Amino acid sequence: MDFYLDTADINQIKEIDKWGILRGVTTNPSIIAKTGRDYQDAVSEVLAIMGNRHVSVETLKDDADIIVEQGKKYREWGNNVVVKVATTEEGLKALSQLRKLGIPTNATLIFSLNQGILAAEAGANYISPFVGRLDDIGSDGIGLVEDCVNYVEENGLDCKIISASLRSPQHLEESAKVGAHIATCPYSLLQKALKHPLNDLGLKAFLDDWEEAKRKLKK
Ligand code: G3P
Repeated sequence: MDFYLDTADINQIKEIDKWGILRGVTTNPSIIAKTGRDYQDAVSEVLAIMGNRHVSVETLKDDADIIVEQGKKYREWGNNVVVKVATTEEGLKALSQLRKLGIPTNATLIFSLNQGILAAEAGANYISPFVGRLDDIGSDGIGLVEDCVNYVEENGLDCKIISASLRSPQHLEESAKVGAHIATCPYSLLQKALKHPLNDLGLKAFLDDWEEAKRKLKK
């Protein structure tokens, strides 16, 4: 499973990039708004750090022609841009046009298998089921990820599943278990995922034991 960061915070991207696991970044208008910067400026800074790795950038209108024009413009900002499109009627039209133009897309706001199937069949290169938001309303977010993975794999579609809206380390592990191709995570989630109390205790004991052994050797 590939790890992406769901952020436009440059410091977070730089920090996780040092871990050697960062394969992409996903953004959305709410995430960009938090930077307090102009849309293109914020995205360009992310693109510069990510080199040729995936950066999802969301379109800003529910109108197929405008989505396609925005998609073309975003691709001028960087050839690693993946155009993020909301899964609506207009979105499906735009996904199919963008596929014909060879512009990669990520269909977002997927809350049902039907939406996932329609977006994948329309030509989305990636689809993003929103796990946390489904769990928030008592639905089975991870079950949807699994269903989407099975559908694209059984039908041989050129479409990868991005497990999105992840809230907990359990979401991350479950995404891997059901075969999500990618998990896009908030920075805080990756930090939590790495932590384990036995790891902290174990490391402390190892280091303390060696310090004690060194003291004895010096005597
Ligand atoms: O990648 C989708 C993500 O940005 C949505 O996450 O936490 O706002 O549901 P959240």
